[in-house]
Amino acid sequence: MSPRGNRGTDGRDTMAADTPALDTRSDRVRLRDLLYGFTRTQTLHTAVRLGLPDLLAGGPLPAADLAARAGADPDALVRLLRGLAAMGVVAEEDDGRHALTPFGEGLLPTAEGSLHGLASLVGAEYHAAWGRLPDAARDGRPGFDLAFERPLFDYLGAHPEAYDRFNRWMAAATRTTAAAVVEAYDFSPFARVVDVGGGYGALLTAVLRAFPGPAGVLFDLAAVVAAAGPHLEASGVAGRCEVVGGDFFAAVPEGGNAYLLS
Ligand SMILES: C[S@@+](CC[C@H](N)C(=O)[O-])C[C@H]1O[C@@H](n2cnc3c(N)ncnc32)[C@H](O)[C@@H]1O
Repeated sequence: MSPRGNRGTDGRDTMAADTPALDTRSDRVRLRDLLYGFTRTQTLHTAVRLGLPDLLAGGPLPAADLAARAGADPDALVRLLRGLAAMGVVAEEDDGRHALTPFGEGLLPTAEGSLHGLASLVGAEYHAAWGRLPDAARDGRPGFDLAFERPLFDYLGAHPEAYDRFNRWMAAATRTTAAAVVEAYDFSPFARVVDVGGGYGALLTAVLRAFPGPAGVLFDLAAVVAAAGPHLEASGVAGRCEVVGGDFFAAVPEGGNAYLLS
């Protein structure tokens, strides 16, 4: 039998029923890889939940030390580290210690464009929500509402720690694109720029820093703007920025010359 199949009585190749063609085999491998996508999500999520990126930020550690500091089972942690190494997040050094790679540094909360907040959400709340996708597809309601019996922002409002992770992730993601926005658009003609659903103000901050003229209004749900102050302070724009809590389905602050929605 040739690697691709059998030669039939008419001289042409016919595929043996139990020997898939090479293309089919690689398609199955790719499909299997897609089906196992959740394992990568959960491996990254667990690394962040255990604080491994932060623990390794100070330098490589032996697995046993890392397990002790993370409060993890030593054997389980070795298996987790192998999964993280396969994804390039950590690397095992010659002396057996484990190091965070430059790629893995994206999971540090302080990294530029940090994915720390996303990693914490996808493996928990988002994972549960997507688990309801078959029901959502039949029912039409969002999977999040089915899993948590309320919409995302109601849930986050009742879970400040999760809302903080969400807002930090939003801010980190927005910071990666904000420079291009202020480069592409001239905000200098506006006296008052209102950021609607502005979160911790990542986009508004970029606008105010790039253009000294406008004043800013950060508008979001009361629970969010109540926690935004330190972020505005750290960005140096708090003095030029009014903070307003409210529901954008009811009304948005009046008197703006430009309204942002991102
Ligand atoms: C996709 S996030 C965008 C975050 C922000 N623009 C940024 O770039 O970081 C959506 C934002 O809308 C806010 N939001 C959701 N429902 C709202 C409502 N009814 N009224 C005001 N803000 C709301 C959320 O709190 C969240 O900050």
